[in-house]
Amino acid sequence: MTDVASKGPQAGDDRAILTNRQGHPVYDNQNQRTVGARGPATLENYQFLEKISHFDRERIPERVVHARGFVAYGEFEATGKWGDEPIERYTRAKLFNTAGKKTDLAIRFSTVIGGRDSSEAARDPRGFAVKFYTEDGNWDIVGNNLAVFFIRDAIKFPDVIHSLKPDPITFRQEPARIFDFMSQTPEAMHMLVNLFSPRGIPADYRHMQGFGVNTYKWVNAEGETHLVKYHWIPKQGVKSLTADDAANIQANDLGHATKDLYEAIESGNYPQWDLYVQLMSDDEHPELDFDPLDDTKVWPENEFEPKLVGTMTLNRNVDDHHNENEQSAFGTGVLVDGMDFSDDKMLVGRTFSYSDTQRYRVGPNYLQLPINSAKNAKVHTNQRGGQMSYGVDLGAGQNPHVNYEPSITGGLREAQYPTHDEQGPVITGRLTRKRIPRTNDYKQAGQRYQLMEQWEKDDLVKNFVENIGQAVREVQERMVWHFLLVDDELGLRVGEGLGISPDDVRHLEPLQSQTLTDEDRERLSNLG
Ligand code: HEM
Repeated sequence: MTDVASKGPQAGDDRAILTNRQGHPVYDNQNQRTVGARGPATLENYQFLEKISHFDRERIPERVVHARGFVAYGEFEATGKWGDEPIERYTRAKLFNTAGKKTDLAIRFSTVIGGRDSSEAARDPRGFAVKFYTEDGNWDIVGNNLAVFFIRDAIKFPDVIHSLKPDPITFRQEPARIFDFMSQTPEAMHMLVNLFSPRGIPADYRHMQGFGVNTYKWVNAEGETHLVKYHWIPKQGVKSLTADDAANIQANDLGHATKDLYEAIESGNYPQWDLYVQLMSDDEHPELDFDPLDDTKVWPENEFEPKLVGTMTLNRNVDDHHNENEQSAFGTGVLVDGMDFSDDKMLVGRTFSYSDTQRYRVGPNYLQLPINSAKNAKVHTNQRGGQMSYGVDLGAGQNPHVNYEPSITGGLREAQYPTHDEQGPVITGRLTRKRIPRTNDYKQAGQRYQLMEQWEKDDLVKNFVENIGQAVREVQERMVWHFLLVDDELGLRVGEGLGISPDDVRHLEPLQSQTLTDEDRERLSNLG
């Protein structure tokens, strides 16, 4: 007689029965099937094989960046306006058009560099990715908490990330490698001044801002376009940590930000962010001393006032971390009618990269998963097959034999273009590889420093000195040279901490990879 015979449901136990994925009841989940009590095991042990081989495949590759993150759900409520003006003047995107209109959304907050179990108190940009499930399909804003980025051309992304990721041999994040790269990347100064200030370690996910960073377009019913940037402002306020605060937190808990968000939502303390939009006419804006498509720049708020368009409330946690977090997929290509891409050279590179990595990381049918599917829109494609395909998205009355287009025997048809002519700018140019003309790498970095409170400036200088101090002398000197061009005081203070005076760096020539403004040249000639 086997052990199984002695078990069986106890009277009054109404818990569901454990089965395998074939729907077969599991009678014994403690013992493999063996020849005799001491083995050997048999190969026809289907229940055991299914269980262990599924376990062997439990992990999918973690994201190449932003591996650690946490998803929550909520809704977006529109004001129907851009500030005081009807929003239809600028965009026909339906989710914005009516005051009080609500749209379901998912959000994923993340760190960038660490692996999926790494510390959430690291000095690192934070990801702020929102997926709106609109009636016209999904819209993603995939942003960060610092408003700008290290680089302005997508071709440099693998390099900047390699410099920030662990050393390929020691597998430690090495400030010497980071500043080796950054010292040769003048456009990174604005991001570095943010990242090494307390803003570089947000207190948690609820108390940080989010920014779309890249420049997009809005399109109205007449087809007129405007350039826009998105800003999420937390109603909870903004809180940041110094390196010492962060060290104390991560000594006890690597996941404090996830815990904070999860518990706030579980207890009904729903966090909220207002969405503000900056907007400018769709042209090159030669009057500005920066390029509006440059993601290392912010748009001055006194000239381009951010105006409210709605509020996001997070009110639900995930049911399963793997299904809804690990398999979630956000991307900059995911826009709805009423929105468009700008020619921002980062944006176009990102737009390729996200869905490319997701087809590899999650699989070619990643958009069939509930977290990623356009659940509030009608989806009918002629896509079939591929790993893990399930369900066929037939349209009402569609002939199921017709998975091609065009067809006159009951297939899907193309949509009508919205009734307008394209009115974006006409662009002509020679194919080339060139920097944008208005790089202006230092001015906004200096303004950012000048706006900081004294304790933030002190923390920034301390962090720079500690980290850059680990790099070789030439890198330290080049960083001091950059900082003197950013702001005299910042350059002098970091220099002092590293034992480098303006006289020590006066001989340095501008990098080949930079274009200096007249103002930069003037500062250069006055160095020291
Ligand atoms: C994630 C590429 C710049 C924000 C990712 C991923 C890739 C990637 C491959 C992993 C996606 C996945 O596995 O699902 C790039 C490239 C960039 C770039 C090639 C530049 C050319 C940026 C910038 C921002 C940003 C400028 C911020 C504005 C994010 C966020 C995620 C992410 C928030 C995580 C999305 C999530 O939570 O799943 N990026 N990225 N990235 N990136 Fe970027």
